[in-house]
Amino acid sequence: MAEPVVAQKSPYSVEVAKDQEYWWCACGQSKSQPYCDGSHKGSGFSPVQYNAKADRTVHFCGCKNTGNQPLCDGSHNSL
Ligand code: FES
Repeated sequence: MAEPVVAQKSPYSVEVAKDQEYWWCACGQSKSQPYCDGSHKGSGFSPVQYNAKADRTVHFCGCKNTGNQPLCDGSHNSL
């Protein structure tokens, strides 16, 4: 499988809203990071859905190498 593009070597910290659905970009090619903009077409990657259970700040993975998609697990520190 192809390697994802490293969008940035740090997470995207964003405010999410309770009961909202978000689509995290897994391929790293989206111009609307950390969200999917359809650029993954033909890459073999698909976006990952995230459903917010509360109003809060979450840290979406920016390097696309997390083992805990779509959230940061610190993997960017070893890139
Ligand atoms: Fe990256 Fe859709 S643009 S997963």
